[in-house]
Amino acid sequence: MSEKYFIVTYGCQMNVHESEKIAGILRRIGYEEEAEKKEEADIIVFNTCCIRENAENHAFGNIGALKKLKKQKPHLLIAVGGCMTQEKGKTDVLKKKFPFIDIMFGTLNLEELEELIRKKKLQKKRVISIREKEGEIVEFDDAYRTSYPNAWVNIMYGCNNFCSYCIVPYVRGRERSRDPENIVAEVKKLVAEGYREITLLGQNVNSYGSDGSTGVTFAELLDRVASIAGKFRVRFMTSHPKDFNEDVVKVMQKHPKICRLVHLPVQSGSNSVLSAMNRRYTREKYLQEVEMLRSYFPEAELTTDIIVGFPGETEEDYLATEELVKEVNFASAFTFVYSPREGTKATEMPNHVPEEIQKDRIMRLVALVNSLTRQKSEAYVGKTVEILCEDYDEKKGLYLGRDEFGRMGYFKSEKNLVGEFISLKVTKANGISLFGEIVVD
Ligand code: 5AD
Ligand code: SF4
Repeated sequence: MSEKYFIVTYGCQMNVHESEKIAGILRRIGYEEEAEKKEEADIIVFNTCCIRENAENHAFGNIGALKKLKKQKPHLLIAVGGCMTQEKGKTDVLKKKFPFIDIMFGTLNLEELEELIRKKKLQKKRVISIREKEGEIVEFDDAYRTSYPNAWVNIMYGCNNFCSYCIVPYVRGRERSRDPENIVAEVKKLVAEGYREITLLGQNVNSYGSDGSTGVTFAELLDRVASIAGKFRVRFMTSHPKDFNEDVVKVMQKHPKICRLVHLPVQSGSNSVLSAMNRRYTREKYLQEVEMLRSYFPEAELTTDIIVGFPGETEEDYLATEELVKEVNFASAFTFVYSPREGTKATEMPNHVPEEIQKDRIMRLVALVNSLTRQKSEAYVGKTVEILCEDYDEKKGLYLGRDEFGRMGYFKSEKNLVGEFISLKVTKANGISLFGEIVVD
């Protein structure tokens, strides 16, 4: 009987793709099948996130819940990796709290997992290996992808920005950019395999190659990727407003393949909060960039990340964020309550915002964002949009996919259309989702 694996992923797209790399490693060493439930697995890997406290609490809860299973099934291996293990002192906490963990590894030495599993199988003692500093980029050519027809492609790792609230630079190290030849070769291979949407990933894609190591800027890389022949879409994330520029937009103009959607995290609409966050741009600069983008593509959409309740944020600051959200008219926004992360500058700042006020602000902001999203959905009714079919929803009995702006559309089909582009005439909008009929042209 083949051995089975189960991976639990927390956090961002970067982690989702890293779990695909972990699955690739596990398959390489003989774990042939993905288990449907944890109880059926021979190895369980937790790919953790530490960006906010609740992501950590989830992981703690879920790891703790395995104590019984491990007792019943002693041959089961439990491995913990991801950003949490890179956090200072966290492995000691994990060791103490969960003595049944067999393996711990970091995001900076993911590739070692294969060796660590081998080692653990030969010894009783648990195996821990966390790399403290980033090393050379290790290329993976056997990630086991699970999101067809979409594929994630790392273009860089790490972050140099040290936004005052953020733990990422501490756990993922300094920026390193992948060789452009490797990126282009990976995308060519994915397109040849039938992937129809390529998302270039980095913490701050606009600073790709800015250390001179690649000889290519992000705009040039994007141009090369979008020049690859074939019918597919290109997305990229995350753009940083301090570095987002017209060169990138000019490349977008050259290639209809590049979605006219930019994820541009603003974090706050107040200049004093932006400055305390060490974001290194102003509200005015952000709005200028939005204007520049829309001067090229009036139809362009933006998505963003926003934090409320940052230390020192006043009601006036918060209202400035609301105003900015309305002015930009975001397609959608990820909204967060500030979460103090040990070791970051913001934890030492005065005037932490009381929890009730944070809660009140996040509720107001979510309501505002939802109302904008709903209005945009309603404006779709009657229009025909191109959807990349991604999946089948068994409950609804409908296929689903997204348009270039990331809007989800549902439709009926007798034929399996996953991986195909279809024209959808939108007949109904419901919250963030669209419903419609396929138009045959
Ligand atoms: N608290 C709340 N949100 C945070 N983010 C990053 N760090 C924190 C924190 N300490 C949010 C930012 C970032 C997104 C990925 O997560 O908005 O853009
Ligand atoms: Fe964190 Fe800022 Fe880097 Fe994004 S750019 S990962 S928010 S430090």
